[in-house]
Amino acid sequence: MSLWTKHQVFEKNSFILLVGILVMVSIGGLVEIAPLFYLKSTIEKVQGVRPYTPLELAGRNIYIREGCYLCHSQMVRPMRDELERYGHYSLAAESMYDHPFQWGSKRTGPDLARVGGKYSDDWHVEHLENPRSLVPASIMPGYPFLSENRLNTRDIVNDLKANKMVGVPYTDAQIENALADLRGQAMPDSDAAYEFEERWPTATVRSFDGNPKEVTEMDALVAYLQMLGTMVDFSIYDDKANLR
Ligand code: HEC
Repeated sequence: MSLWTKHQVFEKNSFILLVGILVMVSIGGLVEIAPLFYLKSTIEKVQGVRPYTPLELAGRNIYIREGCYLCHSQMVRPMRDELERYGHYSLAAESMYDHPFQWGSKRTGPDLARVGGKYSDDWHVEHLENPRSLVPASIMPGYPFLSENRLNTRDIVNDLKANKMVGVPYTDAQIENALADLRGQAMPDSDAAYEFEERWPTATVRSFDGNPKEVTEMDALVAYLQMLGTMVDFSIYDDKANLR
């Protein structure tokens, strides 16, 4: 029996053909996907990228809870119109501590990967409370309750622990002091703020919602938004990348 006649088995029986296709596709998939899990170069470490502070992480949880990702992506693609509008294209390393990532697949509103520092905290508070007071034609819903809701901090320590389990390099001190650090970041001039700065030297301490007396959901969400896209100093990379 020649090879050709053996091949006819596949051509005459659609079920065997289907199994054959599945086997071939799985081999192709494995060859392409499996190396990504152990190659070190899959995610190049980039200077400046750090895990989220407890307050930013809590803000990120609110971002997910409120479904912001349904209208906003966090992924600037390397295409000219996006570079001109948003800034440097997103690097894999910038979302290396995101579990789950917030790249998104829908842009009803603008991409938010580089929104940090684009507006003042006050702008964000006002915009989140009532988007139409700043952007009259906006179709974004308002979230006025965020300023009234005290931030629920019950799970923050476990949240950091869970992130550590999936590879985020939180130190033991950062986990132990997560609750104090969460308050410290939003309460400038307090002892907690001072300690926070020791543990998180590259993060910012501010009263993000303008009320330093308590930590609200607004504090957390604005802290998260203002951090987005600000960790990497792209002036170093722009020369090399030559894309902008
Ligand atoms: C129904 C879709 C929708 C949802 C849900 C939504 N947004 Fe928006 N967002 C928009 C649109 C449209 C704009 C552009 C108009 C404007 O600025 O209000 C926008 C603008 C923004 C901007 C300004 C971006 C820029 O570069 O000017 C920020 C920041 C923002 N949204 C944050 C959020 C956050 C945080 C949430 C979740 C709490 C959220 N959005 C939920 C649609 C949405």
